Amino acid sequence: MDKLLIQGGQSLSGSVKISGAKNSVLPMLCASVMPTTGVVQLENVPHLQDVTTTTRLLTQMGVSVTMDEFMNISLDPSAIDNFYAPYDLVKTMRSSILVLGPLLSRFGEAKVSLPGGCAIGLRPVDMHLKALKKMGAEIKVERGYITARSKRLVGANITFEKKTVTGTENIIMAASLAKGLTKISNAANEPEISDLCLFLNKMGAKISGYGTDMIEIDGVDALKGTKHKPLPDRIEAGTFMIAAAITRGDVEINNIVPKHSYAVIEKLIEAGAEITSTDNSIRVKMRQRPKAVDIETNAYPYFPTDMQAQMTALNSVAKGDSYVRENIFENRFMHVQELERMGALIKVDDNTATISGTKKLLAAPVMATDLRASASLILAGLAAEGTTEIARVYHIDRGYDCIEEKLQLIGARISRKPM
Ligand code: EPU
Repeated sequence: MDKLLIQGGQSLSGSVKISGAKNSVLPMLCASVMPTTGVVQLENVPHLQDVTTTTRLLTQMGVSVTMDEFMNISLDPSAIDNFYAPYDLVKTMRSSILVLGPLLSRFGEAKVSLPGGCAIGLRPVDMHLKALKKMGAEIKVERGYITARSKRLVGANITFEKKTVTGTENIIMAASLAKGLTKISNAANEPEISDLCLFLNKMGAKISGYGTDMIEIDGVDALKGTKHKPLPDRIEAGTFMIAAAITRGDVEINNIVPKHSYAVIEKLIEAGAEITSTDNSIRVKMRQRPKAVDIETNAYPYFPTDMQAQMTALNSVAKGDSYVRENIFENRFMHVQELERMGALIKVDDNTATISGTKKLLAAPVMATDLRASASLILAGLAAEGTTEIARVYHIDRGYDCIEEKLQLIGARISRKPM
């Protein structure tokens, strides 16, 4: 197991290129089981552990996966012969639940391990299952597995009681090959969902309304292979924006869609950053100690839960007091006790962290507990005095493409060492 060593105190400057979005690529990889003709080609896929795990999952189902040195992935589903997602793979990556809708709609059966809880909360999949049942699936949950069967799924009116990203994606994919019209009300409208819909429409699906909370899918009889380049990762982009701000640096973040990061940009401006943008880049300059800003997480377009830990790190060194309220996941404050080890002054009460900004964090040995928590510890390490050691860095490798290399290029002193 590796650890990261970060020697803090360097002001970051230069430019960084953002990779394809993890949360766009993962559902697209799962959708690759659906075409009856042709192959799915995904370009510029980020080099992530979650991508490797998903391709392993697809390979053991019989999908033929090839990858070139530029991370263009080609997926040929013509030889699929099992519809099984085993516990060993699903337990490391909850998004494996995204194979359920595609397998069921294409092959009429699927057996997928229940994802179970994870560090950030319980994360049930009840809304996915309820919606699939409404479309005619017979679903049993037994001995840790979801077993689903159906003749051709039928379109239905689905209303999610709460917005769910992968729930919306699973139903969109299932409905693409169903008979008749499916209407999803209170659908999630994250950019990654719109990207998935664009991709499915290229495969021959008939999806409209994406980007709003009412999505309609007119089921088709067959889908074909296609080529697609996933969106840039707005969470990776946001993490680099905060890296610039927390080190009082000046960083240009390229290959992004600035409007997808609006909620984060707004908060950084409030914190005192100077921000300029073009159609596909943002430059973040922070000349002085950032000001503390209050945030509340919510579904897109509001402040993303996936940026909460990083913003908590920024508020830890900001001038003034702030609160951070987490409205999506019930246990997403695991980074707080680690930040406290570095001298952050944070009190958590239920879903709210109250932070008194301190002038300086001091390096300490800390442990990453989940993907975004590890990003917040890297950010804190960049700002801290001394050398921070972060253990359990496998969490960061799940979702950040070449993070040390990208940070090194803009002046960070960060390296990886075996434990
Ligand atoms: N929920 C239920 N029942 C369900 C589904 C969700 O109660 O059947 C609850 C969840 O427990 C949570 C809320 O609904 O409280 C929203 O969860 P959602 O389903 O939207 O989360 P998700 O689809 O499991 C995706 C991202 C997460 C991101 C969330 C919220 C992927 C692969 N994952 O998860 O990404 O935090 O949406 O935006 O798209 C990450 O990248 O670090 C990450 C955790």
